[in-house]
Amino acid sequence: MTPARRIFLLKVVIHLGALFPLVWLYYQAFHDGLGADPVKAVIHFSGKGALNILLLTLCISPVAKIFRLGYLINVRRLVGLYAFFYACVHLANFILFDLQNDFSLLLSEILKRPYIMVGMLALILLLALAVTSPMNVRRKMGRNWQRLHNSIYLIVLLVCTHYIWSVKSDIIEPIIYFGITFFLLFFRKDKLFRLVKNRF
Ligand code: HEM
Repeated sequence: MTPARRIFLLKVVIHLGALFPLVWLYYQAFHDGLGADPVKAVIHFSGKGALNILLLTLCISPVAKIFRLGYLINVRRLVGLYAFFYACVHLANFILFDLQNDFSLLLSEILKRPYIMVGMLALILLLALAVTSPMNVRRKMGRNWQRLHNSIYLIVLLVCTHYIWSVKSDIIEPIIYFGITFFLLFFRKDKLFRLVKNRF
């Protein structure tokens, strides 16, 4: 199979793999299939989905290096954009179903619940990465592009903090997510030490 064909097929799999769970989620939500608290279920599903896809984005370059699958780098942008898309769906679920579309409540929620402020900060940074992801913007930004996109490491730590702060009792799962995040950051330890030394 030619590399171009392989990339095309991989992109098809990514689109289906990202979109199908959301279609299934809303189908279940509108057919009473999400249990006693469907609002909580859709917020959690989309939030966890965004975090999982974010971690998947971080897996791509170590996997490409270790298994010599260079073509995987071609789908990194698409996977990253789906992490942003899921995060937007997560926020939309929160505003539409939890706050009942009352935007004025959003500001008070941000001020009242610090974990929401942390989530908002992560989403703003993700937005910056998404809008600067096209190749022509990357070329125009030069070295600043890499500087900005290094904030992916901060974003994933912010999201794990948002997660652990949001849970009331069972912190085992968010701790596991922190563990996976540190494991993936360990692969970039040299780069991260350099970034910290040069103050980003
Ligand atoms: C835009 C700002 C955000 C708001 C307003 C927000 C809101 C929320 C809310 C209300 C919860 C549920 C807390 C509860 O159960 O009481 C939550 C959980 C969560 N959020 Fe966010 N969030 C934001 C950003 C993000 C982002 C950017 C991500 C990931 C990229 C994310 C990932 C998660 C995760 C993983 C959980 C835990 C889900 C679970 O317990 O199963 N959130 N968020």
